[in-house]
This record gives sequence, structure tokens and C-alpha cells, in this order.
Amino acid sequence: MHAPTESPRVGIVMGSTSDWDVMQRTAATLADFGVPYEVRVLSAHRTPDETAVWARTADERGLRVLIAAAGGAAHLAGVVAAHTLLPVLGVPMQAWSLDGLDSLLAMAQMPRGIPVATLAIGSAGAVNAALLALEILALNDPDLRQQLADFRARQAREILDTQLE
Ligand code: RP5
Repeated sequence: MHAPTESPRVGIVMGSTSDWDVMQRTAATLADFGVPYEVRVLSAHRTPDETAVWARTADERGLRVLIAAAGGAAHLAGVVAAHTLLPVLGVPMQAWSLDGLDSLLAMAQMPRGIPVATLAIGSAGAVNAALLALEILALNDPDLRQQLADFRARQAREILDTQLE
């Protein structure tokens, strides 16, 4: 994973540093495609004002997609989405109980009017959030679209080339 140097196009926010173990897979996937991102730890309940400011200023700072990860009540993604018109992708974290089902439902069950596109619990969701963000960016970026097509082809080839004893 290389550190982003250009201005970020994707914003990653997580509720706690304890989410980073999983969410570094989001950052690594974006870095693999050479897409710059920014990462913040902000909590909807512990730092509500800073969270709102981050979400409200994301668009003017050049971000195009936001990815929010949280565990437990996992209201972070919904709160972020309430403060921006940018698409918000949610990654439910497997926190201290219920194997992440609590986080999944808290994100996926957003009431009508403010959408959060919710991915799978944990590391699969962390990687897929990055891939979905890349697909959104690729709508206006033919080079990125080609990179995604190459990635899919490589992924398929790895499976087809698998030899079992
Ligand atoms: C949420 O609570 C965080 O997103 C994290 O998934 C979970 C546990 O946070 P810590 O108690 O580890 O800080 O706010």
C-alpha cells in the first residue's frame, strides 16, 4: 500500500481506531488502483460536531465517494449521509457482540429519505466498499474502468487456473 499524494477522491471514516484492522483493506484496495483517499477516525456519538463538519465539507474538498465503517449501533454512516449529497457506502464492523448483525442492520435499515449503500460485515465489505467506490469513480474515468476490467479478468483467471491435488 502506498501513501496517497494527490488530492483525495474517496473519504474513509471509521468510528474507532479499533476498526482500522479491517478498514485498512479498504485503503489498500484503493491504493492498489492508485486512487488517493483520506482516512479519519470520527465518531457519530463521541465527536458529533467534527463528524458533521467532515461530512459537510467533503464535497468541496474534492471527495466523490464516502465510506463509513462502524460497529454496534453503527449510526455513523447514516449521520454522514445526512450531511452530504455524496454517495455513502457503509461497512458494518463486527464489534463486541452479535457478530456484526447489529451493525449490519443499523446501516442497512436506514429509514426512507437518506440512503446508505451497505456492504457485507467485516473484511469482505471493506474490500467491496473500495471496489464499489472505484466503480462509481469509473463512471467518469475510462482508465479506472479499464483497471477494474483487468482486475476482474485476473480474479477470474486465478480461479480458473486453480489446480487441486
Ligand atoms: C464503534 O464502536 C466503533 O466503530 C467500533 O466498531 C465500536 C467499538 O469501538 P471501541 O470501543 O473499540 O472504540 O463506535
